[in-house]
Amino acid sequence: MKNKKYNNLINGQLQGAAEYLSIFSPIDGSLIGETPSMSQKDIDGVMEAAKAAQPSWEKIPRKEKAKLLYKTADLLEQHVDEIAEIMMWEIAKSLKDAKNEIIRTADLLRYTADIGVESTGEIISGGSFDSTAENKHAFITRKAMGVVLAIASFNYPVNLAASKIGPALMGGNAVVVKPASQGAISTLSLIKAFIDAGIPAGVVNSVTGKGSIIGDYIVTHSLVNFINFTGSTKVGEHIGKLAGIKPILCELGGKDAALVLPDADLDLTAKEIVAGAFSYSGQRCTAIKRVLVTSENADKLTNKLQKIVKELSVGMPQDNPTIVPVINNAAVEQTRLLDEDAIKKGATAILPLKIEKNLVYPTLLDHVTGDMDLAWVEPFSPILPIIRVQSVEEMIEVANASEYGLQSSVFSNDLQQAQKVSNALDVGTVQINNRTQRGPDNFPFLGIKKSGIGIQGIKYSIESMTQMKSIVVDM
Ligand code: G3H
Repeated sequence: MKNKKYNNLINGQLQGAAEYLSIFSPIDGSLIGETPSMSQKDIDGVMEAAKAAQPSWEKIPRKEKAKLLYKTADLLEQHVDEIAEIMMWEIAKSLKDAKNEIIRTADLLRYTADIGVESTGEIISGGSFDSTAENKHAFITRKAMGVVLAIASFNYPVNLAASKIGPALMGGNAVVVKPASQGAISTLSLIKAFIDAGIPAGVVNSVTGKGSIIGDYIVTHSLVNFINFTGSTKVGEHIGKLAGIKPILCELGGKDAALVLPDADLDLTAKEIVAGAFSYSGQRCTAIKRVLVTSENADKLTNKLQKIVKELSVGMPQDNPTIVPVINNAAVEQTRLLDEDAIKKGATAILPLKIEKNLVYPTLLDHVTGDMDLAWVEPFSPILPIIRVQSVEEMIEVANASEYGLQSSVFSNDLQQAQKVSNALDVGTVQINNRTQRGPDNFPFLGIKKSGIGIQGIKYSIESMTQMKSIVVDM
């Protein structure tokens, strides 16, 4: 598998480029393979192929589209071992989690097919609003956007790409997928599954290359009608500026808080927080990235967290530990600086930071305060700050002071109180007595403030990537 040249799938054909990018493994730095470094001229060819293929794809009955998604799901399951192995080397996800991601993706595609088939239009009568318009009827349907540009992040190279491609296809769009450079080989396996399943040439295509050469070019390309992006807030904001009035759907950064109310079940709370914060080494936009706890519970909770975190397995992804090497040196360096700043300003290291190459050991810091970067900045690594507050009101205030608004967890045995706190939180989703997470994949998934724009989740993604068309008939 290693050290191979991988090519893009464009207009149903494998296509290379004049130059290639080397992809190295975060596990041991070894060369995994090479992906095409496309030029802007190469990109024009892809966009033209997608544009040309889209109208006939939109006309295919949704039931036929659904069959192709089912076939893709079957192929992913058949190749789960081989794709998971690539993914493990490419992004250092544990083999077990890589397999789970692929199985989750197959389920997601089947459910997307089912929901897509069910999507219907509606008829509204004008008379219900204005008696002089009672013979007017609006026939409302949804049409494809055209060409959807799907840009996925490294951490779910198969699932996040598929969660954009599947709904876009059911909505009648053609798709051009730009994976993150790290993760691209796994995404190319997904695209291959779509093509092998029989998706017509040009309907699903991939592009790879250097951000500095093709990044802005694909976003501003005149043949792209819609952009669906997952990645950092910085890049999302840049895309937003470039896109102008082109519609975009973005899932960006987060600083999800766990709010531990005074009556919370601390055993359950500690277990959920650890799972939410440390799985895949905290490299999830939805990871719990700060704990807010009142002083009466703080010592007890910290002890419980310490016990569980200390037991987390750390190692190489082949052995299926929770803590695996982080994606690159930049993530390590960011963690080191955040830790250094917090310790310098008085945080207590319950489990101190320990780094071996890009393996960051699970780190737990207590007494983190608002003057420390760790209270506000999003790390993509296994470091968790505990912020002590005096009241539930202060907890809500600190939670809402973040520039992000993806998710929060509220832990309490009093559902009414938990609901009241949930209502006061400026985030897209609140999880009560539960870790923060995107799934189940049919739930709406959205971030507010700097965490995103638009709504994903199977049904919502189909809606987002289609546009309403209203035809009014005066009978
Ligand atoms: O990193 C962003 C993903 O959307 C998080 O998904 O909550 O299923 O890990 P997850």
